[in-house]
Amino acid sequence: MPRALLVENIDVVAAELLSSAGYEVSSLRGALDESDLIAALDGVDLLGIRSKTKVTAGVLASRPQLAAVGAFCIGTDQIDLPAAAAAGVAVFNAPYSNTRSVVELAIAEIISLARRLTDRDRALHAGVWDKSAKGSHEIRGRTLGIVGYGNIGSQLSVLAESLGMRVLFYDLEDKLALGNAEACGSLEELLERAETVTLHVDGRGGNAGLFGAEQFARMRRRSLFLNLSRGFLVDHEALRDHIVSGHIAGAAIDVFPDEPRAQGDEFVSVLRGLPNVILTPHVGGSTQEAQYDIGRFVAGKLVDFTRNGTTTLSVNLPAVALHGSSAARFALLHSNVPGVLARADALVGEHGLNVDGQVLATRGELGYVVTDVSAELPAALLTGLRAMPETVRLVTFPRSA
Ligand SMILES: NC(=O)c1ccc[n+]([C@@H]2O[C@H](COP(=O)([O-])OP(=O)(O)OC[C@H]3O[C@@H](n4cnc5c(N)ncnc54)[C@H](O)[C@@H]3O)[C@@H](O)[C@H]2O)c1
Repeated sequence: MPRALLVENIDVVAAELLSSAGYEVSSLRGALDESDLIAALDGVDLLGIRSKTKVTAGVLASRPQLAAVGAFCIGTDQIDLPAAAAAGVAVFNAPYSNTRSVVELAIAEIISLARRLTDRDRALHAGVWDKSAKGSHEIRGRTLGIVGYGNIGSQLSVLAESLGMRVLFYDLEDKLALGNAEACGSLEELLERAETVTLHVDGRGGNAGLFGAEQFARMRRRSLFLNLSRGFLVDHEALRDHIVSGHIAGAAIDVFPDEPRAQGDEFVSVLRGLPNVILTPHVGGSTQEAQYDIGRFVAGKLVDFTRNGTTTLSVNLPAVALHGSSAARFALLHSNVPGVLARADALVGEHGLNVDGQVLATRGELGYVVTDVSAELPAALLTGLRAMPETVRLVTFPRSA
């Protein structure tokens, strides 16, 4: 029976899906360090981790049986992706599963900032009855400026519009404007027109320091600012200055340049203690619904990969989408150099087999070809394919019918 190991308290739906696909599943609550992980991976075909367990080149070299790693989270920095690709180990993550959770938090924060909810809440908890409409606004009719119109930015656009906001966005790429949203030609234009600015850009290196004193100064007076994307985008000293001066009326920040490593470590920030500033500990995507969806999504990718060779949305292998087949199937991950396909097909022909179907995709230095043939795969053919100098990994799949 093939084996799967899930660490870091992954939602139980993942174990259920893998079990019903025929895996013997072991689940651990905590993360593992390198040596414990290598020991735990003895005889394991699939590994599921979250952000704390590091899958290093050493781990991959020690456990050649490992076929795939599921990162049951968004980021994959904890995995040596080039080493995994070179070893023919597919890596999958869940890039969309918490999109809705981030969007809902952003909406909640936009309304909370516009009504100065945290200040009202704090005052009342301190026994101060301060009933006043001063500084409180509806969001209906106000202009939201979304920087980064990707998965999160575009979904926020739809929800904000449904609440009556006018939506502007700015993206480096030409994006389809949803609903009545309007694209701005530059970040400067967005900053000058929007009353609430929210950042949803990705973490590419060039975005470091995207937002500093110049950008805050360009924002309209008494506007609101949110960042639920990446901590290193924003100069928090500059944000603090603009809140203290009153130019920015409020801010909601979920991500920080230096986040505490462990639960309970002190959170240090120049934004602590400021009025109408909502600080949350990187929980934009942290909901039970998102955790469930991550479990379902990544386990599904692992099952599809091992059942029929599908690599769609793998973060390190060429992408091929396949269905089950009544034919015998093999997947050949190989160095992307001329002639490999011709040699593999010639070997199939030499064994008197016909190629029923074939799909090829390449990604950088790797090629991935999945071949269906009309009869059982002879052992000598598999030996020949494995012996080709360009072969990185050869996988065979049981007939599905
Ligand atoms: N707070 C959380 O818990 C949480 C959860 C999930 C995602 N995130 C973060 O949210 C961000 C957005 O996620 P997503 O899934 O929508 O990503 P995405 O890749 O779908 O979208 C990012 C968009 O930003 C655009 N972009 C990049 N740099 C830009 C720039 N300088 N100016 C304008 N546009 C720019 C890209 O073209 C892309 O359209 C990411 O940084 C992600 O890490 C945070």
